[in-house]
Amino acid sequence: MHDFDYQNGNLFCEGVDLNQLASTYGTPLYIYSENTIKDNFNRLSSALSDLDHRIAFAVKSNSNLSVLKTLNDIGADFDIVSGGELFRVLKAGGSANQCTFAGVGKTREEIEYSLEQGIYSFNVESEAELRFINEIAKEQNTIAPVAVRVNPNVDAKTHKYISTGKSENKFGIDFEFIEDLYLKASSELNNVKLRGLQMHIGSQLTQIKPFLEAVEKVSPLVKKLKANHEIEFFSIGGGIGIIYEDALASGKKEWWDNQDPENKPLTVEEYAKKLVPILSTLDIKILLEPGRFMVGNAGTLITKVLYKKIGAAKNFAIVDSGMGDLIRPALYEGHHEIVPLIKNTGETQVVDIVGPICESGDFFAQNRDLPLLQEGDHIALLSAGAYGFVMASNYNSRAFPAEIMVNGTTHKVVRKRQSYDDLIMGEEL
Ligand SMILES: Cc1ncc(COP(=O)(O)O)c(C=O)c1O
Repeated sequence: MHDFDYQNGNLFCEGVDLNQLASTYGTPLYIYSENTIKDNFNRLSSALSDLDHRIAFAVKSNSNLSVLKTLNDIGADFDIVSGGELFRVLKAGGSANQCTFAGVGKTREEIEYSLEQGIYSFNVESEAELRFINEIAKEQNTIAPVAVRVNPNVDAKTHKYISTGKSENKFGIDFEFIEDLYLKASSELNNVKLRGLQMHIGSQLTQIKPFLEAVEKVSPLVKKLKANHEIEFFSIGGGIGIIYEDALASGKKEWWDNQDPENKPLTVEEYAKKLVPILSTLDIKILLEPGRFMVGNAGTLITKVLYKKIGAAKNFAIVDSGMGDLIRPALYEGHHEIVPLIKNTGETQVVDIVGPICESGDFFAQNRDLPLLQEGDHIALLSAGAYGFVMASNYNSRAFPAEIMVNGTTHKVVRKRQSYDDLIMGEEL
């Protein structure tokens, strides 16, 4: 469910007309719905209410300070992957002891900074990293809290670029090495404290099966580790998928009620129903690291049709945004539903929606049957709140779009559009 829908033929985010925002602030423009973010958090949290749990928002999915503040204010923790993300959490009013620090390549500077700030846990991805953290903690005369990321070798059945829990992926430590590593760490590494165990099998999972398989496989390991070490948490990672293809309709409960029960996309209620009975037997705090689920359907990217081009093989609508603002379609053929800001139920046309960037991969949609678009029309790319702006680049020296947060009938610019001066900031002749 989310808060984007037509009202009298105009696309609204909560109580705000997106046509108004597009004409006031120009395009491209990211818009976020604060109440959708809060609802997503509250829905997940209440589905898990029988479990001792914490929700650590995966900051990588959307690190805008106002998004982080919104989540911090309603009780979220944070899963970070860099010193920069820790800095953002602190700026948004959070603290390091709400943060787990994941990622395969933590640097000395990042480890030192996190220790100084009082990180809750480093989620360690190799033995070499574990030893390095121990060494730095020793230099600082402190104890580093750590959890090891176990790679359960489970097929997440998602796009290969967002699958992380198979042995051939670079993430985590193989399941069969974990017990030995915990023994080694507790006997040899005096400056780390084993605080938990973590896993994350992949992103955009829309069925329960891979989650279930991973939790069933790793739970006995958690029990064994808990018997021999003072671990206090098991993080089951993120990965809950969202609806991309039918994004607008999925804002309404009726859409979910009408899905074929056999192939219904995963809901958080179903996720909790299947996982809580197993997880509650572990008698340990459960962490979750959702990113996409929390913010994906809470954001949209608005862009304007600059030109139409009728080619021999294809029709193109060239828009003022591209892969520099939203790279998912180019990177992993990610689908975003595209709707006009002014509803148009008339004629349709099969088009490629392409950007201005000098790359053939710079497209938002190919051979898509869309309401007939005219030059000057505004369109919305839905479900763009996760892995959208955070992956933006200045390629072709194009400025970052502005970001706006909507709450009810009010809105706020939460990141200004970049200027040409911003583009050369830090450069010297
Ligand atoms: C360790 C870890 N946790 C959580 C996430 C968030 O995943 P998602 O946005 O699919 O929930 C990721 C995403 O890559 C991740 O690598």
